[in-house]
Amino acid sequence: MGVNKRVAAIEPNAIRAFDDQTSGVADILKLTLGEPDFAVPQHVKQAAIDSIISDDSHYAPSKGSIALRKAIRHFMMDRYDLSYDVDSEIVVTLGATEGIYDTLTAFVNDGDKVLLPAPNFSMYDPTIALAGGEVVYVDTSKSDFLLTPTQLQAAIDEYGDKLTTVLLNYPANPTGVTYTAEQLAALAEVLQDTDITVIADEIYAELTYDAPHYSIAKYLPAQTVILNGVSKSHAMTGYRIGFIVGPKELIAPVATLHQFTVTSASNPAMAAAAEALGSAQGKLDSKGMREAYRERRDYLVPALRQLGFEIPQPTGAFYVFAKLPANVNQDDYEFGLDLAKRGKVAVIPGSIFNIGGEGYIRISYASSMAVLHEAVKRIGTFLENY
Ligand SMILES: Cc1ncc(COP(=O)(O)O)c(C=O)c1O
Repeated sequence: MGVNKRVAAIEPNAIRAFDDQTSGVADILKLTLGEPDFAVPQHVKQAAIDSIISDDSHYAPSKGSIALRKAIRHFMMDRYDLSYDVDSEIVVTLGATEGIYDTLTAFVNDGDKVLLPAPNFSMYDPTIALAGGEVVYVDTSKSDFLLTPTQLQAAIDEYGDKLTTVLLNYPANPTGVTYTAEQLAALAEVLQDTDITVIADEIYAELTYDAPHYSIAKYLPAQTVILNGVSKSHAMTGYRIGFIVGPKELIAPVATLHQFTVTSASNPAMAAAAEALGSAQGKLDSKGMREAYRERRDYLVPALRQLGFEIPQPTGAFYVFAKLPANVNQDDYEFGLDLAKRGKVAVIPGSIFNIGGEGYIRISYASSMAVLHEAVKRIGTFLENY
């Protein structure tokens, strides 16, 4: 049968597989998903409704409606002090997921090396393989889960021109850590005399708790494309609206690919996203969600440390990456299954996120305080009876 070899080689999503193995447990609390638990704000919903009622039903420009691209321009300028041209430097995608696919497919040639700091979000590896690239993992577990300039330089020295792309994700899934402006500037300094393209997945940019978010694009504008969207910033995962911004030389091939694969995003969803990103109320919506996540983090992290987990301080996104206490089974997959079945709390085993994740679990705090309190109680009881 004619199945593409690269597609046939893709492993089923390991997070889903783990989820399936634990979903049958009665009364389980799930802290597995990276899915905001807030409702979409009313004014944003209304924008989608208005779009439908007003017969906004024809093909939009492939790069996205002008209103949404203007809102994205405003958003990037207002929040991150970055300027992108509405006509040539912005493409609206079906979530950041399409952004990952479009950029890797548009930039990577067969046999190119793509640097991925690990542990990493599980969507990247199969997409790099589909594009014909080969992943170069850099284990960040000994450097606070951040890529260092020394590690980056070592990879450049080792792979030379074969290393064409660096994929960064900050604030990070699964670790919740992010880079300071100084750390980004130091990485940019290593990259600036190379031909390497940086794909910066900044889907959690609106969710930073201790310092403002900075983008590496500030220090490396000609070589960086940013992926973002409304999935996490406005709890709109199901609307499927993301975007890619970058210099026009990099956006042009991405726009071509997008045109041939999806034509354009859906009009009501784009109208809602324009309201979320372009309005003053939309900014306040994100702020409110950010405050709620911060409160949850500030409860959860000390509570888990009290139970014996070592945790790199999460400064963004909504994940805690917790090192298993020394007295429990250090196989994180087995520990995760055990915790689900006997402790009735589902988390994600760290090794699913590749090297550096072994011996850790990822806990999502995109859940109510009541759920988090109950989860901590259950994990405590589970460990007491271990
Ligand atoms: C790091 C990262 N990038 C991209 C995505 C996908 O975002 P979207 O739902 O906008 O496609 C996720 C979702 O969990 C994520 O964690």
